[in-house]
Amino acid sequence: MTASDRVVLALGGAGTVGSGIVKALLEKGFRVAVISRDGNRLEKLKNFVPASTRDKLYTLVGNVGTEEGAETAKASLLKSVGKVTDIVSSLGFSWWQGGPPHTQTLKELNHVLETLLLSTFTSWKAFFPLVKDNPNGTYTFITGGAGERLLMPGTGFLTLGAAGSLAFCQVVRSEYPDIPCKVNEIKINMGVAMPERMGPGYVSHLDVGEAVASVVERRNSSHKVFCVSSPADLKTIILEGKV
Ligand SMILES: NC(=O)c1ccc[n+]([C@@H]2O[C@H](COP(=O)([O-])OP(=O)(O)OC[C@H]3O[C@@H](n4cnc5c(N)ncnc54)[C@H](OP(=O)(O)O)[C@@H]3O)[C@@H](O)[C@H]2O)c1
Repeated sequence: MTASDRVVLALGGAGTVGSGIVKALLEKGFRVAVISRDGNRLEKLKNFVPASTRDKLYTLVGNVGTEEGAETAKASLLKSVGKVTDIVSSLGFSWWQGGPPHTQTLKELNHVLETLLLSTFTSWKAFFPLVKDNPNGTYTFITGGAGERLLMPGTGFLTLGAAGSLAFCQVVRSEYPDIPCKVNEIKINMGVAMPERMGPGYVSHLDVGEAVASVVERRNSSHKVFCVSSPADLKTIILEGKV
């Protein structure tokens, strides 16, 4: 099965991390589908990927953050692309720094948990059955080090949400130890940005995209956590596939 026979659903594919992944997958010859709640973000994504790959990109406006929304998006997606062989989940947001917990509301905590954890669950519930029993299928989660500690004062809810997604990945590895589909997590302990917005402690979303696309392409590992704490770690992930 060549890359052009594979259809990757990139959840969060219109975001900072996701757009780098989408570009790298398209450049490797995969067909890629992206669902976003925002049609403008999808238009931006279409303009961002190389023109020569645009006919392999399928976009769909939808909300995978509820069980009904995810099921509706799945039905439309299957109607237009026919099948899904691989899934990359990069849902969430880039940053949250609303202040220390005593200044926050329950509504805000719900919003953070919905964006980082609950959408990861609702989309998993809807889309995992499409790849679960496929030995050539993959499901790759993107997580971050924010779930392990407070990154800065005022980022507490980000830690709570990100910790939820880390725990979700752990649960998946333990609950489904023997599934044919390859389930992996790529945990990025650094900031991720577009090349023009890079600063100290950041990696480019293009390099992250290349590393994630190479894990999806080679599908030779499962139940593994790839940790990225430096640009060299990304290179190692990319090269591992070439040895
Ligand atoms: N950025 C970083 O510095 C960084 C560092 C380490 C790890 N990470 C990890 O990468 C993940 C993504 O971060 P990012 O920087 O790419 O954030 P982002 O730019 O805000 O993108 C996140 C994407 O998730 C999508 N999304 C969220 N809820 C959704 C829903 N209910 N239905 C459909 N799409 C939904 C958003 O889609 P819409 O288009 O609908 O808004 C958006 O495109 C984070 O959760 C984090 O774990 C990020």
